[in-house]
Amino acid sequence: MSLTITYLGHSGFLLDDGELTIAVDPFLTDNPVARHKAADIKCDYIALTHGHADHFGDTIEIAHNNEAKVICCYELHEYLSEHNVQTDPGNPGGRIETDFGWVAFTQAFHSSSYNGRYTGMPCGLMINIDDITIYHTGDTGIFGDMKLLGEIYRPEIALICAGDRFTMGPELATRAAEMIGPKVAVPIHWGTWPLLSGDMSGFAPKGIEAKVLEPGEVWLYG
Ligand code: NI
Ligand code: MN
Repeated sequence: MSLTITYLGHSGFLLDDGELTIAVDPFLTDNPVARHKAADIKCDYIALTHGHADHFGDTIEIAHNNEAKVICCYELHEYLSEHNVQTDPGNPGGRIETDFGWVAFTQAFHSSSYNGRYTGMPCGLMINIDDITIYHTGDTGIFGDMKLLGEIYRPEIALICAGDRFTMGPELATRAAEMIGPKVAVPIHWGTWPLLSGDMSGFAPKGIEAKVLEPGEVWLYG
């Protein structure tokens, strides 16, 4: 049970268990903090939280380059199918079994559109890979059922939006981490642009390791 976790900046990650790699919210082109280019990404799957361009990002190019399957909500599946991308769709409350483990869709309190088109309900993702469960909150405000999601799925790692304005800021993300109860909590969706908070010193959940990653940083877990 070990994972190589690469932070792509903003809300993007590569999760690699040594056999399969999942790209989550791969926003690289026009991302001022990204250290990777879309053409460099090698992956087997892409998982998307919602349709906003800072999450959907380079999905079509990366999917085509890698013949990767995209795990996403139903409306993003419809959009991607029009662009000849393979998908595995779901929606909040549901779980998809995969060859690396499983992905469960959770609710997120946010909006979701792409190029003016409605792209379904925004989601968070519980990603189980190599027996490690990671909760990526997507973009969301705080909600009390984060505690329930923590009890049900028992994520070891939580990737929590914390940049304020469009999502929780560091103080609410701290409360979120305490409800979810992972071993390690990582603030995401911060510092990308001046509109977002660039200071995570307020992200300090009690009893949980707070890990601040730099864009491009590789974290070996487990
Ligand atoms: Ni968004
Ligand atoms: Mn966003």
